[in-house]
Amino acid sequence: MNNNPKFIVFEGIDGAGKTTQINLLREALEKRGFSCFVTAEPTDMPSGKAIRRALAKEVESTPIQMAEMFACDRELHNTDAESGIERMLADGITVICDRYYYSSLAYQGTVLGFDTVAALNLDNPNIRKPDICIFLDLTPEKSLRRIGDRGGKVEIYENLDYLTRTRKTFFEVFDKLRDRGENISVINADGSVDDVAALIFDAVSAIL
Ligand code: TYD
Repeated sequence: MNNNPKFIVFEGIDGAGKTTQINLLREALEKRGFSCFVTAEPTDMPSGKAIRRALAKEVESTPIQMAEMFACDRELHNTDAESGIERMLADGITVICDRYYYSSLAYQGTVLGFDTVAALNLDNPNIRKPDICIFLDLTPEKSLRRIGDRGGKVEIYENLDYLTRTRKTFFEVFDKLRDRGENISVINADGSVDDVAALIFDAVSAIL
């Protein structure tokens, strides 16, 4: 077991290859002696399941309620006694998380404003700051092509506009978070799987 565990977050717009790259990073770290725990938000806990019901519009919700629900799920994700992020790190296990508060700041922040979402997340002492955030970046055009190649249905104009706005908001959020000392690495995800994995590993190596 490596006794210097890290908390690594992946973010990216749809089609950027988060799942593939998270698994490759896990393999690369395990080869180097790190025990790894891969996790995601929304979580599989009741707090995360409630979010999925709201995302699927099975229950009504408001933007501020969603932001609070994501922050609540995130706090419980940190503090869960058995498999929470804090517990894993305390046990020497590196945590790799698919989405975190960057998503809240980008998606909920677009509607509610950065400061409201920041107050719920960055000012909460039970919500840990990651050691690094890896943002897998792809132009919206390439992202749509990949989603289409996967067999998904794409409504071109609507989605192009949405992805463009989302990507722009992520970059605005990153500028603000860098001012607060966060380590955010934007990785060009428009290469071969192996080339992108190598770029990610270089960025992560800098904090190991
Ligand atoms: P999911 O099915 O996990 O999507 P993906 O595979 O793209 O991660 O659904 C998560 C959705 O929730 C995704 O559309 C982004 C959104 N989300 C937020 O709006 N705020 C958040 O804080 C998080 C973690 C996710």
